[in-house]
Amino acid sequence: MNITQEARDAISKFKLPQEVGFGQVLAPVMASCDYENGKWGDLEIIPYGPIKLYPTAKVFHYAQEIFEGMKAYKADGNGPFLFRPLENFHRFNFSAKRMAIPEISEEVFMGAVNTIVSLCSDFIPEEAGSSLYIRPFIFATEENLGIKPSQKFKFMVVASPSGTYYSAGAMSVLIQREMVRAFPGGTGAAKTGGNYAGSLLSNVEAAKKGYMNSLWLDAKEHTYIEELSGMNFFAVYGNELVTPPVSDTILDGITRKSLIDLAELSGIKVSVRKININELLEDIEQKRCTEAFACGTAAIITPIEYFGDDSGQKYSFEKAPGEMSTQLREMLLDIQEGRRSGPENWVIKID
Ligand code: COI
Repeated sequence: MNITQEARDAISKFKLPQEVGFGQVLAPVMASCDYENGKWGDLEIIPYGPIKLYPTAKVFHYAQEIFEGMKAYKADGNGPFLFRPLENFHRFNFSAKRMAIPEISEEVFMGAVNTIVSLCSDFIPEEAGSSLYIRPFIFATEENLGIKPSQKFKFMVVASPSGTYYSAGAMSVLIQREMVRAFPGGTGAAKTGGNYAGSLLSNVEAAKKGYMNSLWLDAKEHTYIEELSGMNFFAVYGNELVTPPVSDTILDGITRKSLIDLAELSGIKVSVRKININELLEDIEQKRCTEAFACGTAAIITPIEYFGDDSGQKYSFEKAPGEMSTQLREMLLDIQEGRRSGPENWVIKID
């Protein structure tokens, strides 16, 4: 790996602003590695900045692209810590396979992530819920318009010192009963940009009606809850946590699976089952369902304040965040930020 002198200069000049937001302030360095002639080349660490591409680079036309979201945490002078980074590595290659992108080795992926975290260690905000948000991605760079898998790719890692994703605390969510995010046999379980692009219009329409996000239902019956695009879904029934099973239409969230494990370890009953939206709304009205939340690397746990339906009807919780959401969020963050020990190998210290 080559860390350029320009990258070292960029680090020494960088000043972390007081207010960072989420994904707005970019770390001064990035990792880059090219795939050509059937193999990945050498990793370089260079200053963060624009890159040169042909207008015919296939990513612009056929969206051959994948990404990951990870965080490095520092708190009370400890860290930086990565949370289950190999889960991200494995999911990255799962997404690569689905999008006909050549897989990358653990050495290149983790080498890039660890080096960026280590070089940016002084720029990781330490307030609870803040972190260095890390975005590894690969995109097709071959410069022609043939509809064929690209023969050239670029792997990059950029990072952003960030605060919480949803600063508002709790979310209002509009149930999307017409458009769908994913369908069986499609790309819904891969972390690829097209899934997110396809969800934007729904979010724009939700925002016009005063909601912060839309809730996606299954493509066949428009009845079963899938996810929130960028976040998985949980409902709370008293002391029971309920979440839909992951499938080829739902992203296999690392926060989701960690929360299932933590809940079970804490004696909370977890049911992984399909959730019928109409039954859920009835259960909220009857106060059988007492809380709901979305979760993800960026979102951590974001409580849902109320759901809205096309008719304009709202289904609200008495309290958001509720007790279960608060307890699980604290438990997860305490582990991620190194205040409490979690299951083996969940938290990796970077030197
Ligand atoms: C993440 O949680 O890391 C995501 O990828 C969600 C989003 C910011 C796209």
